[in-house]
Formats: sequence, structure tokens, C-alpha cells
Amino acid sequence: MYKFEKAVVRTPADSFAEGITPGLFGKADPELAKIQHKKYIQALRQCGLEVIVLEPDNDFPDSCFVEDPVIVTDRVAILTNFHAPTRKGEVDRILPVIKDIYGSHIERIEGTGTVEGGDICQVENHFFIGLSQRTNEEGACQLAAILKKYGFTSSIISIRALPEILHLKTCMSYIGENTFILQKAILKESELAPFKKIVVPDNEGYASNCIRVNDTVILPEGFDETIKQTRAAGFNVLETPMSEFMKQDGGLSCLSLRIPKLNL
Ligand code: GLY
Repeated sequence: MYKFEKAVVRTPADSFAEGITPGLFGKADPELAKIQHKKYIQALRQCGLEVIVLEPDNDFPDSCFVEDPVIVTDRVAILTNFHAPTRKGEVDRILPVIKDIYGSHIERIEGTGTVEGGDICQVENHFFIGLSQRTNEEGACQLAAILKKYGFTSSIISIRALPEILHLKTCMSYIGENTFILQKAILKESELAPFKKIVVPDNEGYASNCIRVNDTVILPEGFDETIKQTRAAGFNVLETPMSEFMKQDGGLSCLSLRIPKLNL
């Protein structure tokens, strides 16, 4: 597993509750989201990361979900191309910090190709590219070509048959040691056959989006059965409160770009 050195996050905007959500879990409270975001930053710091905190951006209610506009690797950063119309401007807003970190080592998904970072799941030097309501075939094809140019491999997993799942990583997360935490709905996916699996209970679907940061898996607070199973499988676990982000259909991974030591 890559060792991560820094993370980029963006403080939730006052307009946070106006972002895209099916609204299954009630109305989000932007002030509570800001408190939870500070705890998330603390968790990243506890895992040894330097955290770059960007100013809130009221023009884009979903802009705290910084994982969607950029895919970061040790070799290149790839700017995505949103399907969601209200999020399209987020790429330009995050570009300055990406230029600071990656200089000219930046590529871009263009034209009719759409990709959102939540659909991209890295496992060492391989990337699973999710075809979803947000990421299309043309975008996946462009991304695969860019990844190949930088020495990575990739393959496709479609979640189009699961319209209630926003992004690929909404339902599966790689936590190192050849292991995924995932939802039952994706359990039979043939691309995942070689991996060990921790399957979340039906009432803990949200916990299938989580992150491994150095020696620790960060999971949403209160998903006790998933936390118990992850600990039983030998992982260190940190919990962080996520209720307001869950209301906005955003996962724990979406809140940060985790950047390993660069090899540009
Ligand atoms: N609220 C996150 C998204 O729909 O993009």
C-alpha cells in the first residue's frame, strides 16, 4: 500500500445543504458539517498526514467532496470532467493547489468524456474505473489511456445496474492487505474475485466507503458491526462522525485527496 504524506481538503460551504442529494437522511446542517470536518482533519493528522485546508467555496455546495474533481497518484494528477452540471466549475477551483503540488505533471479528461473521482478505486498500481450514472465509457477510455501512459493498469466495473449507488467507491473500498470492505450488491463482481472481503451488513451500507491511511482504516462513526469486523481482520480503526456528509450523499473518501510521496 502506498504511504501517504499529505492530504487536501476543503471546508464545507455555508451553501453545503444545497448540494446534490436524494435526501434519504434528512436536511444537512452546515455548521455541524464544519465541526465534523474538523474531526476528519484531526483523524488524517493522527495518521501522519500534513493536511492542506482550502477555503470554503459557496458557489459550489458539493465542493468539500474534493475527491471528485481530481485523481491523484504518485506520478500524475488527472483533472476529471463532471457529469453533474452544478459541479463542473469545481475542477478550475481546485486547480491552483494541484499545480502547486504537481507542477506541470497534470492531465485532463476532456470533451464528452465524463469521470468523477468517486468512481475511481486504486489498488496499488491498478485502477478500477466505475461506469456509473456519472462516469461514462468515453471518460473511462480516456482515463485508461492516461493511466497506461504513466505505467498503471486499469479495468472497468459497471455499477449501472445499481442506480441507488452514486459512485463505485460508494459501495467498495480497498483497505490494503489484499482486502476490500464492500456491500453485498458488488460481492459477486468478477474483478474482485482475487481479494479478501469484509461485507458490511445491509443496515451499514454507508460504511463501505472508507479509507486506509498509512497504518489505519478510517471508518464512519457508529457503524459498529463493520468496525468490529474490520478490527477482527487485524486492522487499526479510527472512527469519525459523518452524519451530515451522509445526508449529502458524500462518503468519507470523498472528503480528501490523499497524496503519496511523489515520483514525478
Ligand atoms: N453530493 C455529492 C454528489 O452528488 O456529487
